[in-house]
Amino acid sequence: MAQQDYKMLSDKLFTYKGTVLALDSDHDLTPEYIDSLTDFETRDDDLYVVTFPKSGTVWTQRIITLIYEEDFPDKAKQITFEQMPWLEYCLKKADYNARPSPRLFCSHLLQPLMPKALQRKGKIIYVMRNPKDIMVSYFYFSNKMKNLDSSESMYEMLEKFFTGCMVGGCWFDHVKGWITNKDKYNILILTYEEMIKDLRSVIVKICEFVGKNLSDAAIDKVVETATFKHMKKDPLANYEFLPQNVTNNPKGLFLRKGTVGDWRNTLTVAQSECFDRVYQEKMKDVPLNMVWDIS
Ligand code: A3P
Repeated sequence: MAQQDYKMLSDKLFTYKGTVLALDSDHDLTPEYIDSLTDFETRDDDLYVVTFPKSGTVWTQRIITLIYEEDFPDKAKQITFEQMPWLEYCLKKADYNARPSPRLFCSHLLQPLMPKALQRKGKIIYVMRNPKDIMVSYFYFSNKMKNLDSSESMYEMLEKFFTGCMVGGCWFDHVKGWITNKDKYNILILTYEEMIKDLRSVIVKICEFVGKNLSDAAIDKVVETATFKHMKKDPLANYEFLPQNVTNNPKGLFLRKGTVGDWRNTLTVAQSECFDRVYQEKMKDVPLNMVWDIS
């Protein structure tokens, strides 16, 4: 391990090669494990959902597992993160290589840390979201999670967002890395905002991308089950089963408001303008042609 690549950011978070992870004794979260992932064996029918945290990961994860429902034999155990686990948060003794195909994974990793073989096989769905909404969402989320650093104010949160001292690392680097390297992958890029605007069209797009031929009725069912209202009532979809050492406040953990533009209710004009200035500077060379409303 290159020692200079590893740094503790607090007693809860560490950074390694630009990504930021929460310390966790249940998972194999070592720099060596993260390094090993670039050589992780990839199959043609592997599917990854890659996001920066709070971009709609759990929502997309739920949609994908519903689309792939027939591929999971044991319907009684439909816990989404078991059907579609996080690549980097591998439970000790879990063997991802032994998983039957088609394998589904989530990841918050930066592009250079992902399995190299994904540039030849497998598929990626990359979901982006207005970074101001991400920041606000993370503010509330981290205040409920015992294994994350909470922020006392939005100023503190802004500082963490700009310096990348939050799980996932630096949003600007994450998006830049994936967008500028997108042509190397078989990748579908989506935004949280388009999912909110027209969920059905996005689900049809995902089905076409992954080659799943669902009937209109089956697609309607996926749409209905993946709505905010439906998922919020489902304790499994909302991860309300997380143990007390992770959170003792599981209600609305991953499903909080589910709207576009909540930052307007939270950021001051000065904070928003400051954000816009940093955004313009850091993203000026990024060919991002799907611009959300960030003003
Ligand atoms: P808010 O905190 O703004 O409400 P992630 O899964 O990447 O952690 O993202 C969490 C965000 O996605 C939360 O945003 C959550 O409410 C939103 N979300 C989760 N499921 C959703 C759904 N079915 N519809 C709309 N938003 C959803």
